[in-house]
Amino acid sequence: MTVAEDPVKLMKQQVGKAAALRVQSNSIVGLGTGSTTAYTIEYLGDRLKSGDLQNIVGIPTSFQAEVLAKQYGIPLTTLDAVDRIDIAIDGADEVDPQKNLIKGGGAAHTREKIVDYLAEQFIVVVDSSKIVDRLGSSFPVPVEVIPMAISPVMQAIKKLGGKPELRMGVKKAGPVITDQGNMVIDVRFDAIDDPANLEKTLNNIPGVLENGIFVGVTDLVLIGEVKDGQPSV
Ligand code: 5RP
Repeated sequence: MTVAEDPVKLMKQQVGKAAALRVQSNSIVGLGTGSTTAYTIEYLGDRLKSGDLQNIVGIPTSFQAEVLAKQYGIPLTTLDAVDRIDIAIDGADEVDPQKNLIKGGGAAHTREKIVDYLAEQFIVVVDSSKIVDRLGSSFPVPVEVIPMAISPVMQAIKKLGGKPELRMGVKKAGPVITDQGNMVIDVRFDAIDDPANLEKTLNNIPGVLENGIFVGVTDLVLIGEVKDGQPSV
């Protein structure tokens, strides 16, 4: 694959691999969800196979991450079986200058928040298109909602000034269903001036399980870029 053929894919691949190189032997690793962390998972598997990396165990943030980890030979565990997560690597839909995030483009933000917040070190992997001056500039805030509460939650969100839309699946045949059996409302706001406050306010609406605003938790952002026609991190 060349930059000319698919620059975004190449940026994701480079940054996903760069993050995998930061994982050390004997560590417990949070495995993020999405097309960028798919490369991280693949490369972790390659490192295990080559012997460059030994004795890691993964905690997947979604069914998708679990399937990929099994495919690439990464042993898995659960939060019940460990007392720490050493490092988590995850993607994002938007990153602001304070390293706050919008996540949940893959409807996995609830499990991602649990795992990423527990990690000693949380690394975010994105291509340069995800960097914004202010959260909400281009991506709506995903909100996971228990199905019976969809209508009242939508009403409450409108009262907060948001424009809610139920996320539909492929060919709009039905709503997207999360790994927890819930639905996702994507909410556009004119401006998100105080992400920390909005995160709490949304989660206080009865029926909301979790939203995709991540504040003050990111340790490092690795950004994939194309410079002078060459991919770099
Ligand atoms: C899934 C997520 C993803 O990490 C986010 O959507 C980024 O995905 P990608 O790496 O495919 O661009 O939050 O819920």
